Amino acid sequence: MNEPHASRTEEPGLPSDAASRNDPGGTAAILIGFLFSFLGGLGLTIVYALGGQPQAEGVLLAVGLFGLGFGLVTWAHRLMPHGPFEEPRELPTSEAEREAFERDLEQGGVIGRRKILIGGLVAAAGSLAIAALFPIRSLGPSPGKSLVRTPWRRGKRLVTDANVPIRAADVPVEGLVTAFPEGSPGSADGQIVLIRVEPGLLQPTGERATWSPEGFIAYSKVCTHAGCPVGLYQAETHQLLCPCHQSAFDVLNEAKVVFGPAFRALPQLPLVIDAEGFLAAQSDFHEPIGPSFWNRG
Ligand code: FES
Repeated sequence: MNEPHASRTEEPGLPSDAASRNDPGGTAAILIGFLFSFLGGLGLTIVYALGGQPQAEGVLLAVGLFGLGFGLVTWAHRLMPHGPFEEPRELPTSEAEREAFERDLEQGGVIGRRKILIGGLVAAAGSLAIAALFPIRSLGPSPGKSLVRTPWRRGKRLVTDANVPIRAADVPVEGLVTAFPEGSPGSADGQIVLIRVEPGLLQPTGERATWSPEGFIAYSKVCTHAGCPVGLYQAETHQLLCPCHQSAFDVLNEAKVVFGPAFRALPQLPLVIDAEGFLAAQSDFHEPIGPSFWNRG
């Protein structure tokens, strides 16, 4: 009474549905594949957690994926029925047949093996999925606003790399000084070039009208092309030059690019001369410093 009454495969030349589902060798091969996949994923997780080792990670990832692939392909070939099918149904008609059919279902031989296989698949795929989460940790902390903010704040004085405040009267006309925010000497993103020109040469407009008192003007020293320090000043042409790829910026015209591969002007730092005669910032830069990235023109 254990004959399968629910369905029957009639395809000639192919394993019958019942025969293909009763394949202990296939089941064992699938479980071995999933076991390898699980161990590969587990090993990958452990190697990541211990600090990582590229060669070991590559081998373990290959083992994990190969085991998973092997298990799935074997499952498809060995245990899944092959079509096309004709399935004339012979449902139990007598009471005795119906009871036998229900006993077969409740016995759950096929369902029990399926549960084992699905459990193996979940374990294998799960261990690989957990291992895949670890690279996210390698991305490091979020940069937050660090890409758009610098140490400059309202009232911070300009200082030398020795943290000495710069007095306006000490900077000669056409002189160039590399300066930093007070308290952050040597700051990579806060470094600026301070230039003093004859006040009449500057014709700032709009919000920049008050940013360059007495001919003092300051720009970010970080080149907008690839981030090199813009440290050369040609007083005759009033141009700042980047030594890396020869970009040139017009000091008298908002540091707009006049030559070279840089795409945009150097950001300007709004300046003020405080009550004691020292140069200070009115605020941070009004735009991000440094090379263009994806969300800038
Ligand atoms: S980094 Fe300045 S021109 Fe390339």
